[in-house]
Amino acid sequence: MEAPAGGVDDMTKLSYLHEPGVLQNLALRYQTNEIYTYTGSILIAINPFQRLPHLYDGHMMEQYKGAPFGELSPHVFAIADVAYRAMINEGKSNSILVSGESGAGKTETTKMLMRYLAFMGGRKGTEGRTVEQQVLESNPVLEAFGNAKTVRNNNSSRFGKFVEIQFDKHGRISGAAIRTYLLERSRVCQISDPERNYHCFYLLCAAPPEEVAKYKLGDPKSFHYLNQSNCYDLVGISDAHDYLATRRAMDIVGISQKDQDAIFRVVAAILHLGNVEFTKGKEIDSSVLKDDKSKFHLQTAADLLMCDLGALEDALLKRVMITPEEVIKRSLDPVQATVSRDGLAKTIYSRLFDWLVDTINVSIGQDPNSKSLIGVLDIYGFESFKTNSFEQFCINFTNEKLQQHFNQHVFKMEQEEYTKEEINWSYIEFVDNQDVLDLIEKVQVISHLQ
Ligand SMILES: Nc1ncnc2c1ncn2[C@@H]1O[C@H](COP(=O)(O)OP(=O)(O)O)[C@@H](O)[C@H]1O
Ligand SMILES: [Mg+2]
Repeated sequence: MEAPAGGVDDMTKLSYLHEPGVLQNLALRYQTNEIYTYTGSILIAINPFQRLPHLYDGHMMEQYKGAPFGELSPHVFAIADVAYRAMINEGKSNSILVSGESGAGKTETTKMLMRYLAFMGGRKGTEGRTVEQQVLESNPVLEAFGNAKTVRNNNSSRFGKFVEIQFDKHGRISGAAIRTYLLERSRVCQISDPERNYHCFYLLCAAPPEEVAKYKLGDPKSFHYLNQSNCYDLVGISDAHDYLATRRAMDIVGISQKDQDAIFRVVAAILHLGNVEFTKGKEIDSSVLKDDKSKFHLQTAADLLMCDLGALEDALLKRVMITPEEVIKRSLDPVQATVSRDGLAKTIYSRLFDWLVDTINVSIGQDPNSKSLIGVLDIYGFESFKTNSFEQFCINFTNEKLQQHFNQHVFKMEQEEYTKEEINWSYIEFVDNQDVLDLIEKVQVISHLQ
């Protein structure tokens, strides 16, 4: 049978199911803006790199509501609808796994899934701070602090997240919990051209003048943690606008004005900390603040963090070693002091992020009596740069683990089922990465034993 000119909406309808056939089919569909295609019960989404509002409006959501799977064109709403209906009809909790390489569209897809679930489980006609509103508005807040421009994606998630949406016995959203994983800490003090640091730093520099003055900020080009790259602005994005949008989202999520101020004080303090430089002190292997500029930035950082200036300076210039006999304070040379400055900045930032997630969770609230839940997993996708670090290793390992989970369900379990039922079936060859996983996981076991 000849394949239809516009491609098929389900890969299982292809006469030849092989890589060229699959790619050809996806390309044909993409040409007519058909970005979704099924492979049985799995949805493949191609990044359109343009807004397609008609695909996601309220009318579309109405259409997919309760429609039998496969009856309408492939769509992310259909996947969410299946999950929701399975939960209602069978009382079963389930999870939706979104995977793909960096920039493929996972986070956007996750947001659409969440929107649909909020549509199905939300209360009609209510506005303001409902649970579903809070869940949706947690996205821009988390993105401001956990996303950055990379070479692959202007809004790349630098953390993984698992959002658990809880429902009551009527299928209404009654609570939610957000779990995050593995924020990329190194980005706080080290970025390479043409990437950016976390969005929040640029947003704050573009805040209304009185706030910029309050935090003693100004041109982002004057901060070491930002000026290692020549990229400051993103095409089509206004940091000033996004600053206000983030503040509004924080209001809806339920973060108090006082806490918001504290959050941005910490963000500003990190920028000031990064501008503290060191030079050799009188004693060997010791250091002092380089100049008045460094003194100013350290003082500002201490003020913003509301901590003692002397203690902060000591923490950067000296290392405390605790031996069974005594506590030794050893001074650090300028290179070591810089390492400890960056270490402090990274730790403060990642704790700020964790605190933010905790605060959002407390504010949204979990429902201890929830009957069932739908989880949506959005982790960061496979990455391979010119130079790759331990962070890429962890990201890629996680992706391989998820791929194995996928293989397990799609190939292994299916094929075992066929064998059990003695169905005549030729095995599908697939690359099984279990050996690689074993290698890495067993290395961990050995190192634990040592
Ligand atoms: N369904 C979509 N509609 C419109 N634009 C999209 C869609 N999916 C992705 N994009 C665009 O691609 C960019 C990268 O997508 P994102 O979801 O952040 O990728 P990932 O999370 O897989 O790294 C988004 O910022 C957006 O501009
Ligand atoms: Mg993402």
